[in-house]
Amino acid sequence: MDTWESLRAECLSCKACSLAERRNNVVFGDGAEDAEILLIGEGPGQHEDEQGKPFVGRAGKLLDEMLEMVHLDRTKVYIANIVKCRPPENRDPLGVEQDACIDWLRRQTALLRPKIIVCLGRIAAKSIIKNDFRITQEHGQWFERNGVQITAIYHPAALLRDVHKRPATFEDMKSIQAKVRELCEHTEV
Ligand code: URA
Ligand code: SF4
Repeated sequence: MDTWESLRAECLSCKACSLAERRNNVVFGDGAEDAEILLIGEGPGQHEDEQGKPFVGRAGKLLDEMLEMVHLDRTKVYIANIVKCRPPENRDPLGVEQDACIDWLRRQTALLRPKIIVCLGRIAAKSIIKNDFRITQEHGQWFERNGVQITAIYHPAALLRDVHKRPATFEDMKSIQAKVRELCEHTEV
């Protein structure tokens, strides 16, 4: 069985796909290692690649604000990405890259044993919930897998591009808050 320390160390030296070649940092994950809520993004952007931490750029600031609206913050959640190294020009991670990387997230999830998983955006939702996931139609809906409640919301970068998506996301955050109140044992929201 992994420990957080051993898993992080192993991941930081991963060269399982070609994204390893141009990265400055592997972005392993951030947050509370006993969090009951796991947030899953797509992959690091420029700022994340520079700092080695997920969601530290403009989208990350908006994510922090979205969490704050329902009394959540990075001390109460764990944040990880589908791929741990930055895709060039922020393109979508390729299927082969996602396949090469997904085991790190599996092992993180096994350590965390979250009650609730929130996919941030289409790429994470397709990988985690189902391959034909439609973010515009199915954001905010709840799915169950092995006793874990899973939902997807718009990616914060999409909310920066299109403010009209924000009211729906506020509703989705409220639904997440209600689910946290229902299921989580040590997360006050
Ligand atoms: N977008 C993501 O999907 N993940 C990050 O860590 C930053 C931006
Ligand atoms: Fe390894 Fe994932 Fe980085 Fe590819 S993206 S090198 S699989 S950590």
